[in-house]
Amino acid sequence: MSWDLLWSLLLACALVYLGVQLVRFVRADGDLTLLWAEWQGRRPEWELSDMVVWVTGASSGIGEELAYQLSKLGTSLVLSSRKANELERVKNKCLEISNLKEKDILVLPLDLTDRSSHEAATKRVLQQFGQIDILVNNGGRGQRSLFEETNLDVYKAIMEINFLGTISLTKCVLPHMIERKQGKIVTMSSVMGLVGAPLSAGYAASKHALHGFFNSLRGELAKYPEITVMLICPGPVQSNIVENAFCEEISKKVENTGNQDYKMATSRCVRLMLVSMANDLKEAWISDHPFLSFCYIWQYAPTWAMWLTNKLGSRRVRNFKSGLDADSSYFRPMKKKSN
Ligand SMILES: NC(=O)c1ccc[n+]([C@@H]2O[C@H](COP(=O)([O-])OP(=O)(O)OC[C@H]3O[C@@H](n4cnc5c(N)ncnc54)[C@H](OP(=O)(O)O)[C@@H]3O)[C@@H](O)[C@H]2O)c1
Repeated sequence: MSWDLLWSLLLACALVYLGVQLVRFVRADGDLTLLWAEWQGRRPEWELSDMVVWVTGASSGIGEELAYQLSKLGTSLVLSSRKANELERVKNKCLEISNLKEKDILVLPLDLTDRSSHEAATKRVLQQFGQIDILVNNGGRGQRSLFEETNLDVYKAIMEINFLGTISLTKCVLPHMIERKQGKIVTMSSVMGLVGAPLSAGYAASKHALHGFFNSLRGELAKYPEITVMLICPGPVQSNIVENAFCEEISKKVENTGNQDYKMATSRCVRLMLVSMANDLKEAWISDHPFLSFCYIWQYAPTWAMWLTNKLGSRRVRNFKSGLDADSSYFRPMKKKSN
């Protein structure tokens, strides 16, 4: 074979490879490591059944769907949030759709801001199940308001729930994992833990804080290779997050929650979370485009990312100021994938 032919073949292979990667990227709804794990990695069905999983924020949205998908895998569940009646509803549905029995699901009401209760709650879980294999720090609240118009108390409350509440519960559970030398601490961050976005400065700050904290904690736990610290970073996902978001004052509610249909289906987000958990991914980005590509641009070309943030962000602020949902008027509805 001549050198020319060989080079032509190599070039053709490289172009095909690049083409395939490009198509994969355009169709992606998670970072490429995560999607590789979904295709070739360990299956949640093999890895997560028979575990004891404690989910905070289990009364609604992503946490609720996580409870349903975990129950189908056969995991024992601890369901926590503030609303006991909602947790009972989620528990009953878990019992309906899975083979779990009453004794396999503990409803444990818990307020993330009531940090003095976290130790007793942890003891209660250990009393019932004897172990905690996975802690999913999912409970949290969003924000929709401009900094200039937002009371400082709102920022304090966001940090109390999203950051301090999360690390407080982690501090109570970690000694047990260290004693067993195994466990997974899965913390729900957000694409806004990686990038900034107008109207959500306090929320983005709380999620960035989680990255700083857990990326440092991971290093402290390096001597326990079977304890995994994971950060999950979803883009917009269907849930009640906008309805429950903080705005200018603690007691005020978001006026226009808009149509949330353009967001990723909750079931798809949770399936990718389970894949991340089964494969011990340290950080997983779960999002449709344009938010997914935005994460890559933010990571590899921050100057461009900031220019883009200003462009998209000013439109977000304009929508918000004119009484529209901040995002939905300029993101085209996408066809939803389900698991
Ligand atoms: N949906 C998205 O687009 C999106 C994107 C990225 C990240 N996330 C993250 O995903 C997580 C779940 O949010 P979601 O979208 O499912 O919103 P959601 O439907 O509003 O659910 C939030 C959950 O957090 C609980 N919670 C709120 N305050 C709490 C407190 N003080 N103590 C204990 N639990 C509390 C709520 O339960 P109670 O009211 O019963 O307490 C609820 O179960 C959050 O951490 C959020 O930041 C969401």
